[in-house]
Amino acid sequence: MPLKVAIIGGGGRVGSNAAFALQCGGIVRQIALLDVNQDLAEGEALDLLHGAHFCGDQEIYAATTPQIADADVVCITAGSRRKPDESRLDLINRNVSIFKGILEDLRNANLKKDAIIFVVSNPVDVLTRLAIEHLNWNPAKVIGLGTMLDTTRFCSLIAEAKKLPPTQVNALMLGEHGDTMSAIWSSATVAGMPLAAILSPNEQNQLAKRAAGSGAEVIRRKGGAGYAVGVAIAQVIHAIALDKQTILPVSAQVNGQYGMRDVCLSLPTVVGREGVVKALEIDLWPKEVSGIQSSAKALQATWDKLS
Ligand SMILES: NC(=O)c1ccc[n+]([C@@H]2O[C@H](COP(=O)([O-])OP(=O)(O)OC[C@H]3O[C@@H](n4cnc5c(N)ncnc54)[C@H](O)[C@@H]3O)[C@@H](O)[C@H]2O)c1
Repeated sequence: MPLKVAIIGGGGRVGSNAAFALQCGGIVRQIALLDVNQDLAEGEALDLLHGAHFCGDQEIYAATTPQIADADVVCITAGSRRKPDESRLDLINRNVSIFKGILEDLRNANLKKDAIIFVVSNPVDVLTRLAIEHLNWNPAKVIGLGTMLDTTRFCSLIAEAKKLPPTQVNALMLGEHGDTMSAIWSSATVAGMPLAAILSPNEQNQLAKRAAGSGAEVIRRKGGAGYAVGVAIAQVIHAIALDKQTILPVSAQVNGQYGMRDVCLSLPTVVGREGVVKALEIDLWPKEVSGIQSSAKALQATWDKLS
């Protein structure tokens, strides 16, 4: 079944970069861009459309809410970016009211019951949980981008530092997409070989810190993330489109894993056409488990303030 993707916030940097990554991927059939700034959405859609001759036969257009009722994936990238000295959780006051307004529009739009809601706006883990509750949506059909971006940053920075091929480095960031995220060295490998054996503890700390601080670094240097977040979004949408059953560090509602419940955060999660197939509870070092549990506590504390 050809996939129709709607990107709310599609005129912004993250939304338009995601649309470009989806266009280059050539897998989804339709890409509809929505934005309160309709002109911007029209402009981005037009620019993408101009490249269609070299990219593929997709339909790419600016849309209004009624036109996305039949979307298979609704990707929400709308909202403010943080300032260089702000944490993602600091964004909450500004982004929750924008987000609730969007959820209200979606509720009235009569979406398909099996549509997948894919949250990218920050603080992504809190907004993913809000989407489940506010829309009263099946939690298996609500996915947050979670630590996908942090994970690709982590792998790519390890590869750069050690002169390794980035596609062969596998090292997860799990937990919150935010200050409490955890670098997972226990399962980190390059081409099947353990990375912990070839990186000193000091190098491990430096690389994990650089990856976790990369969002702020990119904001300071160019205003905000674009290309890497775009390809991370496309990875998730392609896993859905092709029912790949890929294991990805996306944010989803936890259901007893590592003793946690209710909050949304990132664990290795099987993603396919139905959305979240299951989140895995893999063997981790005790300090990694407690790192993820700290994320759950921080996210629950923010949620309580919100409620
Ligand atoms: N989860 C992640 O890994 C990740 C990574 C990078 C950025 N983000 C988040 O993505 C969001 C967008 O970042 P950006 O750099 O694209 O910002 P941006 O300012 O470039 O784009 C945001 C867009 O949202 C639009 N918008 C605002 N309110 C809207 C509404 N009610 N309906 C429709 N559109 C609306 C704006 O007009 C703008 O075009 C931020 O919250 C940012 O923190 C998340």
